[in-house]
Amino acid sequence: MASSSSTKLVFFACCLLLFTLSDNLVAGESDKVQLNLYYESLCPGCQEFIVDYLVDFFDTDLDTITNVTLVPFGNAKLYDNLTITCQHGEEECELNKVEACVINTIPDPKLQYSLIRCIENDTKNWDSCFNGNKDDIAIGDCYTSDLSTKLILEYAKQTLSLNPKKEYVPWVTLNGTPLYEKINDLVAEVCKAYKGKAPLPKQCNSSALGKRKVWSKLQVSYANEAIHY
Ligand SMILES: *[C@@H]1O[C@H](CO)[C@@H](O)[C@H](O)[C@H]1NC(C)=O
Ligand SMILES: *[C@@H]1O[C@H](CO)[C@@H](O)[C@H](O)[C@H]1NC(C)=O
Ligand SMILES: *[C@@H]1O[C@H](CO)[C@@H](O)[C@H](O)[C@H]1NC(C)=O
Ligand SMILES: *[C@@H]1O[C@H](CO)[C@@H](O)[C@H](O)[C@H]1NC(C)=O
Repeated sequence: MASSSSTKLVFFACCLLLFTLSDNLVAGESDKVQLNLYYESLCPGCQEFIVDYLVDFFDTDLDTITNVTLVPFGNAKLYDNLTITCQHGEEECELNKVEACVINTIPDPKLQYSLIRCIENDTKNWDSCFNGNKDDIAIGDCYTSDLSTKLILEYAKQTLSLNPKKEYVPWVTLNGTPLYEKINDLVAEVCKAYKGKAPLPKQCNSSALGKRKVWSKLQVSYANEAIHY
């Protein structure tokens, strides 16, 4: 008697798991296009990309087919003694940490993006993006603790182990493949890369793509270029 009811229970648990998995597939959660941005907080092209390009993924339905992941490290250098130096100086290292803490603290993609966009839109007045709410306090705690350094070291690992290697920033990969100059046609590339079951958002239909913004060439930063202010 006892054994038969526990068999039923196992069977029930199995079915529940299967239903849950197939529900996710229908929603397209697990087959979103993985869009990774490798960047550093003070490179002008990175700022432009975050403020002007990425917004398409958060104020339209494109988020239903895209998982945007930000990796703030860029052309920073990591030494064997775990010292990090940033291309645009100490200020950039600090802002990278702030953004790493935003990403770590705020899981909701739209909220996370709107905060990072605010910072990147005006990096001189980035502190005006925070108003002391509960999330902001958690971000501040992260920033002043060892956690921010740990997060940056993790981003360093992800950036330095890219294959193929990053050549410059902003560096964008779709499902692990670098976009190179196709970064200027990002939305069309994401629509093309989506192989999932969810219906394509209307931004992907040909008449919408025909009217898409055409970007001028982004200014990219190579690791070895001299920076002149
Ligand atoms: C989005 O990407 C992040 C980082 O790679 C990953 O942890 C997360 O599971 C992904 N989410 C979805 C819905 O694919
Ligand atoms: C770490 O190593 C770098 C490069 O060798 C050196 O310039 C720097 O002074 C070292 N920092 C510390 C804290 O030892
Ligand atoms: C960007 O910053 C300027 C001021 O520097 C502000 O007027 C504008 O509204 C901001 N835009 C966004 C998208 O935050
Ligand atoms: C395609 O996009 C255009 C413009 O946004 C819209 O008017 C049209 O209804 C869309 N067509 C389909 C099939 O979704």
